[in-house]
Amino acid sequence: MDLHDSARLATPADAEAIAELLDAFNREYDEPSPGPTVLALRLNQLLTGPGTFAIVVGAPISSMGLVTIRTNVWLDGGIALLDEMYTVPAERGRGLGSAVLTAAVAEATRRGAGEFEIEVDEPDVDAHRFYARHGFPVRDPATGDRAFVLRTELTSS
Ligand SMILES: CC(C)(COP(=O)(O)OP(=O)(O)OC[C@H]1O[C@@H](n2cnc3c(N)ncnc32)[C@H](O)[C@@H]1OP(=O)(O)O)[C@@H](O)C(=O)NCCC(=O)NCCS
Repeated sequence: MDLHDSARLATPADAEAIAELLDAFNREYDEPSPGPTVLALRLNQLLTGPGTFAIVVGAPISSMGLVTIRTNVWLDGGIALLDEMYTVPAERGRGLGSAVLTAAVAEATRRGAGEFEIEVDEPDVDAHRFYARHGFPVRDPATGDRAFVLRTELTSS
């Protein structure tokens, strides 16, 4: 990592660059994407409000994490969720993702969130190892339990 690799809080001016990365992320995993233009418009709005922030590294940006904070009845400052995390393939394994995750947790803490959540697919063992190293074990250290995220898609009429 050099000076250009220090993690920083993104501003709405970074929306287009982050949108390009999110679009590349979904193309890499053959997932649908509305395209960078739509994503940039959404991000521009989201990054202006208090509930979403992004941490980015590099110029041009080569690694990013996108976090939303939702309200919660038990926690005054709400719960932070790592919605997306991506490093461009050519830059992986250099510590950029670690820098992004560390800064994302610090920023969520600074904003008063009481918990930080990450969702990972079961087969993604590399990601499990990566997140465990950063203090997010698959099993609850107190109980040994695993938690599951249950979801279904909703369509409005
Ligand atoms: C996960 C990811 C953001 C890590 O970024 P990075 O800049 O390579 O992070 P670091 O260099 O700090 O750490 C590298 C670690 O990430 C692990 N990793 C996790 N998922 C990986 C993936 N899909 N491809 C390659 N490495 C991955 C590596 O194995 C390595 O861990 P190790 O040293 O124990 O082997 C990056 O690999 C990535 O963008 N992967 C594809 C998207 C993805 O899986 N996002 C997370 C979804 S939950």
